[in-house]
Amino acid sequence: MKIVLKKIYLLLFIYLFFFTGNMLLADEVSSYKNLMPVPAKVKKLSGNFRVDSSFTIGVSGKSHHRLYKAVGRMVKRLAGRTGLFLPQVFFNPTESPAAPEMVIKTNRPGFVRFGEEESYHLLVTKEKIILSAETDIGAIRGMETFLQLLDADRNGYFIPAVEINDTPRFLWRGLLIDACRHFIPVEVIKRNLNAMAAVKLNVLHWHLTEDQGFRVECKAFPKLYKMGSDGLYYTQEQVKEIIRYADDRGIRVIPEFDVPGHATSWLVGYPELASAPGPYKIERRWGIMDPTFNPAIEETYKFFDAFFKEMSALFPDEYIHIGGDENKGKQWDANPQIQAFKKAKGFADNKALQNYFNQRLLVVLKKYGKKMIGWDEILHKDMPKDIVLQSWRGRQAMIKAAQRGYNSLLSNGYYIDLNQPANFHYLNDPLPENSPLTKEQKKHILGGEATMWTEFVSPEIIDSRIWPRTAAIAERFWSPSSVRDVDDMYRRLKIISFQLEELGLTHKKNYAMMLRRLTGNQDTKALKTLIDVIEPVKIYARNQQRTHYSYSPLTRVVDAARPDAETARNFRNLVNAFIEERIETAGAEIKSWLLLWKDNHKQLKPVISASPILFEIEKMSENLSSCAVIGLEAMKYIQEKKKANDKWLLKSKKLIEQAKMPCAQTELMIVPAIEALLEFVESGKE
Ligand code: ACM
Repeated sequence: MKIVLKKIYLLLFIYLFFFTGNMLLADEVSSYKNLMPVPAKVKKLSGNFRVDSSFTIGVSGKSHHRLYKAVGRMVKRLAGRTGLFLPQVFFNPTESPAAPEMVIKTNRPGFVRFGEEESYHLLVTKEKIILSAETDIGAIRGMETFLQLLDADRNGYFIPAVEINDTPRFLWRGLLIDACRHFIPVEVIKRNLNAMAAVKLNVLHWHLTEDQGFRVECKAFPKLYKMGSDGLYYTQEQVKEIIRYADDRGIRVIPEFDVPGHATSWLVGYPELASAPGPYKIERRWGIMDPTFNPAIEETYKFFDAFFKEMSALFPDEYIHIGGDENKGKQWDANPQIQAFKKAKGFADNKALQNYFNQRLLVVLKKYGKKMIGWDEILHKDMPKDIVLQSWRGRQAMIKAAQRGYNSLLSNGYYIDLNQPANFHYLNDPLPENSPLTKEQKKHILGGEATMWTEFVSPEIIDSRIWPRTAAIAERFWSPSSVRDVDDMYRRLKIISFQLEELGLTHKKNYAMMLRRLTGNQDTKALKTLIDVIEPVKIYARNQQRTHYSYSPLTRVVDAARPDAETARNFRNLVNAFIEERIETAGAEIKSWLLLWKDNHKQLKPVISASPILFEIEKMSENLSSCAVIGLEAMKYIQEKKKANDKWLLKSKKLIEQAKMPCAQTELMIVPAIEALLEFVESGKE
């Protein structure tokens, strides 16, 4: 019977292969399944559009330079990936061929502002490609999809025939970059804007002021950047350059000037505006600091009037972020003049006083044509309904704001600085199925933002903290809520991660360089084997394990280690497949990993001995090998269907508990899988 069935399958396969134009087979591997974010609607058509050096593009619709530049960039990337000599890298619409193979049609140039139309329609047939969109911004989103569709086979490069109708789920899809805890140079911001555009994010939230640094040139108050930045700030020309660069990619730039707390660097040059006497120094530690603006003196508001006048002219977006978070009010409580002011105004508490401060800033922002956005602390019944609240302390704050008629964004659950895995962020939906909000209230949820706080992030490693995980968050914001398959997300995340490298992102390539430095340029193989399966400690544990300063180097093992370690995740999946379904090929792979790890400590020991920066991970290296030994023994018990003795179980459990302890601010990520093997042995299941 089995043989007969096999024959039928074989015949069916041959029939499908030869008589359906290879379609089914091509489908299985086709790039249209690799898109990230997944478009709203994708329909596979039959056949492929072949891309060769005769590939030509024409643009129709109103003349628009943003679009032409984008087409040039797209052709350049296509040429770069394929090696084809495509002259339209220097795109000039007046030189368009009479019958181009790809036509890009738009009705109008878009405005890079909240709510702009970003939808597009992409039709690829065997003969032709048509990308149409209302705005050039929609076309730019569509061009990213087009590039993700590029595929190849023995006959060359091709785009699978497909029809895509795409539109974003949320209109505000952001990434916050904190340029203060560590200064993030212009080139790094630019490459991250490229990556944002690649995954259809449309807001750069630029955190520009903090206790540790004031990062923008201010002509009205030059002591802000001259005394508050260690010389690390953006000139206004650079700010304009970034805004232009973002605008070219359909990305808004929203500056954050975080007040009244988080304000030490402002007060270095202007201590008379503080709530406690100076002098102030640029903060070098991490945490929540006391220095706060004095809300009870008119000089403060005169200062902010002139400050926001200048910044409103510099930043074209209609929103300015005023921060407003984590003011513990210590300086306010200790200042009798502020207390008297509070009493005279009848304010019950510091929250009311901060609301007064916010209301005064609101008047200033309105005067200069801006709307206010702030962290969820600024919610107050007196606030007008055109502000936006950014919810970071919990999703409840977002829900409360929406129920009260305020627009809000979700950032809680998208704190990528906390080193959590991509699936955690991915499944965090601003509007899940069980959202308590009504249909009307749901309209107040504008979207969300991932937040790259940079206490432990330098220009060298920032890409590895943002990417690829933020691509999963970008999908959450763009794609339909029903797109939630974690395994498929990880499959596609790996593909997009490679594609981001072509845009200059360093999340992969800097790793090898950091390993070379850590080993003093010795063989990095064994160190890589270890660091591939460890992750930096999560949430806020790192600062609790060792005090760090803004000048502490971020070049140690914990900094080279990446969040969501892929090798460890794959190993856990193998172990699950083996335990749950007893897949023997998984068993063989598990064993080969365990054998590699078992011997790794021996290989790494001499490297550690020669490189003192590695001394701190010696224990971790030992733990990897001991866990591997336990894993191998467990596999033996399972495969030989033997019962483990209690002594072995006890000893192994003790070792596993030890291996769970963080070491050098990192965690060994194969431990849960080893523990699962042990539990399986103990359960006596077969
Ligand atoms: C924040 O994380 N303090 C907004």
